[in-house]
Formats: sequence, structure tokens, C-alpha cells
Amino acid sequence: MPTQIKIFDTTLRDGEQTPGVNLNIQEKLEIARQLAKMGVDVIEAGFAIASPGDFEAVKAVAQSVRGITVASLCRALEKDIDRAWEAVKDAERPRIHTFIATSDIHMKYKLRMTEEEVLERAVAMVKYAKRYCEDVEFSAEDASRTRPEFLFRVIEEVIKAGATVVNIPDTVGYATTKEFGNLIKSIRENVSNIHKVDLSVHCHNDLGLAVANTLAAMENGATQLECTINGLGERAGNAALEEIIMGINTRKDYYNVTHKIDTTQIYRTSKLVSSITGINVQPNKAIVGANAFAHESGIHQHGVLSEKTTYEIMTPESIGLSQNKMVLGKLSGRHAFEERLKELGYSLTPEEIQDAFEKFKKLADRKKVVLDRDIEALVNEKVHKIPEIYELESFQISSGNKVISSAVVSLKRNEEIITEAATGDGPVDAAFNSIERAVGFSLKLESYHLNSVTEGKDALGEVTVRVSKDGNVFSGRGVSTDIIEASIKAYINVINRIISELGEEKLKHENNKVS
Ligand code: KIV
Ligand code: ZN
Repeated sequence: MPTQIKIFDTTLRDGEQTPGVNLNIQEKLEIARQLAKMGVDVIEAGFAIASPGDFEAVKAVAQSVRGITVASLCRALEKDIDRAWEAVKDAERPRIHTFIATSDIHMKYKLRMTEEEVLERAVAMVKYAKRYCEDVEFSAEDASRTRPEFLFRVIEEVIKAGATVVNIPDTVGYATTKEFGNLIKSIRENVSNIHKVDLSVHCHNDLGLAVANTLAAMENGATQLECTINGLGERAGNAALEEIIMGINTRKDYYNVTHKIDTTQIYRTSKLVSSITGINVQPNKAIVGANAFAHESGIHQHGVLSEKTTYEIMTPESIGLSQNKMVLGKLSGRHAFEERLKELGYSLTPEEIQDAFEKFKKLADRKKVVLDRDIEALVNEKVHKIPEIYELESFQISSGNKVISSAVVSLKRNEEIITEAATGDGPVDAAFNSIERAVGFSLKLESYHLNSVTEGKDALGEVTVRVSKDGNVFSGRGVSTDIIEASIKAYINVINRIISELGEEKLKHENNKVS
């Protein structure tokens, strides 16, 4: 019988530690629901004690996403564990995930604790967590740089204390593949009670080995794999879920394990996460990059046309990549549009369908051929569920290589129209300056990305902006066939988000009004 591997997704916790990523409750819920739909076993929804926002988000996921285990991370401290339990206790299957570092370097310089003290704390905190929760995961942070004999001892003792899962992180992405596989094997050989728990691994990608190390660990006895969508995470990120799963599936002849992931949800999940986090995947990213299924060379194209398997080891359909066929034209009715949404796997509320339909009609007026990916971009533009405090009414731009760019932008707020004009270093900058004047506060633009959703001159442009305000980074997104309009919509989207999160009063009272 092939072993069933458990997938522990930490996009909402380690993934959120990606520099510049900051998810609100609605966004975490949206991602969590999609992860559950895709079939992950465990969602680590956050680090409950880190902030009130993180606590509320973990609680919201625990209360509303059913059929999976919901975990919160916590240090091996009573107050952290109390908070983690408070956040996850309403989950259908709650888990407390507690950790302490076990490597010499971390114990000496970070914890300033001896081996005996760390061991004692680990055991005491697993016992403490166990008073609340049946399911307790223990992580030996920096396990791959830990003295093996000490690691074996810690694992043996935390299992005796009641841990149900023991996680072996390669915290700094230092391990080589063979070494990490051997470490897992040696844990199986040297820890007498290891068969009582799930043996988990959590690999970072500092040397680009996170997925390889995870798969090597699995070959050597790991039964739970920790990973994130698009490989998001601290520094160079974590092992990418989509790469692990497609590796297992594509080479099932070799790995011979099963899992519960519905691979046809991979593409949608990846898109959702990149759109919400504002972190786009590089075009040549394995599995979900824009070029992952593109064949450029004539020889390859010829091969694929005669027989797909010459150069395609997996099909685009297997990750849910639509065939991108023409869907509908401008004469198509609402019923046909709704049917296509269903075929694409969306289950939207009547209001969301109406909103998407209106956008589709506008798009069909501008664009000859509307493709599946256009529809996906239109629907995903709404995923953020941020109140539309400001909406774009109209804009006018003047730009050229010998003139200073200027913009006049009118925003609608309730029934009021606010119009402001500004100049800038190019049309987008001028438009953003006008918007800041209209809303009465300024932002620092951290990054701006423009993607073409499909090919062709009339393709939809998808703009993602990341801005900072008071040390927090927020992202916004907009789509349109006009890239200036897409940019303006993205900026308004992020402004609405900032207002709904920070509160307008606070923003207006700050001494940063735009004159
Ligand atoms: O990388 C790491 O060590 C972690 C643990 C806290 C699980 O994220
Ligand atoms: Zn980590």
C-alpha cells in the first residue's frame, strides 16, 4: 500500500513572513478556503501572539474553514501557547504548533540556554499545550544544524510528553539533499517511539534546495510535508506546494505515495495567492510560471504537435490551467456567462456574478475575443472583498516625451465626485499623485508590476502595486485593457484597503496631507 502523505500548508504563516506581505482577515479567509478546497490536510493560519490582527485571522480561519486541521504557531512559552489555543480552539480539528531552537548556534546566541534547559522547556511546553489540545506539533527549530544525538533525545522526550507530530525544519536552507534525507532516516532509526507520530519536514530555499530536500525527506520516511503556495516564505521562501505535489504525481512510478491534493486547483490557488499578496511568480517558475507549459523552440513545437509527451511531462490541464479558449462575445447573455464561470470552477454569490458580468460586458466592448484567462482576471480582481470606498469615475492624462506628464482624476465617494489634478514623472506617477490629493494622504510606492493576462495588442493588463504606510505594506490590483486605467484601479484598490484597515480618521489626522 502506498503511504498517504499529509500536506501542511504554511502560506498564511511562513508565507506571510515574505518581506512586504501582509494579509488581512478577509484575505486569509479567502486563501484558506481555497487551500481547503484544494485538499491540504493542515493550514497553519498564523502566529496568534504576533499581533491582534494575526490572532483574529487565525480565529476566523479556525471558526469558518471546516474539514481540515487549523494550526497556530507559538514559541515554547506558556503565554504564546495560551494565545494559540484561544485562536484555534473553535476549529473542527485544532492544532497547537510549538517550537524551540535546538542547534548550538541558536541555543548559545539567541536563546542563551543550555541543552538541558532547552530539553526541559520543550517537554514542559508540549505537556502544557497538551492540557488544551490533543493535537500538538513540536518543531526543533534549526534541526538540520542540531547535534544529531541531542535532536534524537529531544524528539524522543517530546513524543513521551504527548506530541502528535514532530517537525524537522531546515530553518536556514543549509542542508544538502542527501544529508537531509539521511537525517530523516537516522531519526527513524534512532528514536524508538518515532512510529507513534507524524514525522514532518519544513525546508527553506536559501540554496534552492527546498523542494528537493522535502522530497528526499519523504523518501526517507517523512509523512508530513510543510510547504507554501508559490514557495512564498521567509528570505528565499519555503518549499513550493505545487512543485512537491506535481513531482510526486508526475513521478508516481518512483515515489509511490498518495496525497489528498486536487491538482486541478493548483493554478487557481497560485493565482489567488499572487494576486492577494502582490508577489507575482517569475515566468520560468516550475509548474505555475507563465512559461511552464510554453514551447519556444521550433523543434519542441514540432515534437509537441506530433506527440505531446515528447516535451510535456505533465499536462497544463492537470494543474487546472484552462485551455484558454474563446468563451463568449459581446452578444453573449448572462446565462451563458454564468455557465462558463461554473465550468471554470467558480461558485460565486449572485452579486459577485452580476459584478463580473458587468465587467465582462465592458471588456467585450473593448476586446474582440474574450478568453478564459480574461474572465479569471476579472473575477479575481474582486477577491479582496475590500469595501469600495472610492471608485474611479473618470481620468484624463497628458503625456509625451517633451512635456511634463499631468493627470486629472475624478473619484466617486458615495454620491460625491472629487476631482484633482497633478503632474508627475510619467503618466502613472501623475495619476497616482492626483489620487493622493483626492483622498488626502500620501503613500510610498514600493513596487509596481504590469502583466499581460493574454497575448495580443488588446490584451488585459493586470497591475499590482505594493505601497507602504506607517511601516506596513499593502497591495492592490487592477485590470483593464488600458494600462493607465489598470494602474489607477490598482492604486484606488490599495487605498480602499488601507482606509478599511487603518481607519480614515487616523490617516487624515496624520501630518502627511498632500498639498
Ligand atoms: O523555519 C522554521 O524553522 C520555522 C519553524 C518555526 C517551524 O518556520
Ligand atoms: Zn520556516
